Amino acid sequence: MTFPVRIAPSILSADFARLGEEVRAISAAGADWIHVDVMDGHFVPNITIGPAVVKALRPHSDLPFDVHLMISPVDLYLEAFAEAGADILTVHPESGPHLHRTIQRIKALGKKAGVSLNPASPVELVAEVLGDIDLILVMSVNPGFGGQSFINPMVEKVRRLRAMIGDRPIHIEIDGGVTAATAPLVAQAGADVLVAGSAVFKGGSVSNTAPYGENIRAIRAAAEGARRAA
Ligand code: DX5
Ligand code: ZN
Repeated sequence: MTFPVRIAPSILSADFARLGEEVRAISAAGADWIHVDVMDGHFVPNITIGPAVVKALRPHSDLPFDVHLMISPVDLYLEAFAEAGADILTVHPESGPHLHRTIQRIKALGKKAGVSLNPASPVELVAEVLGDIDLILVMSVNPGFGGQSFINPMVEKVRRLRAMIGDRPIHIEIDGGVTAATAPLVAQAGADVLVAGSAVFKGGSVSNTAPYGENIRAIRAAAEGARRAA
């Protein structure tokens, strides 16, 4: 199963005072998904966005909202994010006692289900739920902040996961430190959704959005080039 390369800008690097305009700008600039990082100051050491903000942003883009939940407990909030307009809900196995039940709840809400693996989390954490999920998000930084450096051994982890997945229709998403320099490594290893925060928003702003498109195109070209060369 080969998916096209998708670029999912993380709005964590956007101007929070002008989020609606930022979401419009990246949608117009060629983004495939909108990546929303939800943090609670408990599961990760930062606090960001809640369901009210997701709901307010929903009318600003037709693209899928890829909502990365870094909150614990997570089950309590699945419905609120689903109703706010999330299309994909991704959870960390460590954020609740029963991963399988959490995934079933996401599916019952009619949403796509993702599971995220921290840099130290083993691939085996998803082995028993491969038949139930749509996406595996590989963290290539420790979750909590944008602008951190890519952790190189995560390339091998992506490769192992792609082999584990076989021909199941499961996306591998990579999140953290993705740039035009690191994108080829992960694309070649089998990642198809590339999250990028700082690398998409760098050099631009709502009053100068041209760099967003250039940055997205550069990351996409680097990833697609590596796939062709493989
Ligand atoms: C980190 C978030 C990432 C982050 C990526 O916890 O999950 O989505 O925004 O930011 P960059 O691309 O700047 O590493
Ligand atoms: Zn994320």
